[in-house]
Amino acid sequence: MRLPRPGEPRRQFVKRFLLLAAYSRVLTADWNGTLLAEIKPPKRPTFGMMRLRLSDFPALQNDFGSVRIGTSALTANNPLGLLYPILINRATQGQFYALLSECTHAGCAVRPYSKESGACVCPCHGSRYAIDGRRTAGPAFFPLLQYPIQFDGINTLSIELPDLPHEIEGSLVRTLPGAEFRLQLRFLAFAHLEYEVVFRASKTDDWRNVQFSLTPEAPLNRSFVSGADDYLNLYVEPAAGLGFFAVTIRILPV
Ligand code: FES
Repeated sequence: MRLPRPGEPRRQFVKRFLLLAAYSRVLTADWNGTLLAEIKPPKRPTFGMMRLRLSDFPALQNDFGSVRIGTSALTANNPLGLLYPILINRATQGQFYALLSECTHAGCAVRPYSKESGACVCPCHGSRYAIDGRRTAGPAFFPLLQYPIQFDGINTLSIELPDLPHEIEGSLVRTLPGAEFRLQLRFLAFAHLEYEVVFRASKTDDWRNVQFSLTPEAPLNRSFVSGADDYLNLYVEPAAGLGFFAVTIRILPV
């Protein structure tokens, strides 16, 4: 989100980001990371384009690699929220598949593809799916839902996802009449997730965490906040000069 300036219209600063917690298993070690994917303006009203860098996912750099990424923490078998994780599977010759992990039998979250077992396995009743999402065994009747995915042949995957963009709206507000301005970030925050605010001065800088408040005049001393399936307003100090603010998910145990 580019910094708004005083007097500029509020709606000008709406920007879409996809907030993801990423999980994969690499050489038998679990790996968790926070992923912030900037969304291009949707082609259709309910779709967003997510871009991932392969270099962020060691498991996807080789054939038969697989990751499971999600906007929500997982219980043993189901997401702790509305949204199921997405499986990204790499087959041979640069062919990738993006699949909804919701098992078509009774809705448990299917595990990432395993080269050893040759399948994405559902932990609940053992349904098995091929690397492209076809059902190969078990009580499920249907394949996993597939999303359009493109690979640029170098380092970028583009995935078209429905209903996932998070809209963040920014506006400048005064802490008290005549006092300093703060930047208000407003977005829909889901239950079971915790959110942080990050900033970078240019697109080549690393993101860094910033402290925020929950009211315009409170001290800027919060580093995360929990969602409650409702809109959240966070307040940060506008940085001097240009820069970009974004909201990311704080990783919860999965
Ligand atoms: S929910 Fe997946 S096999 Fe039953």
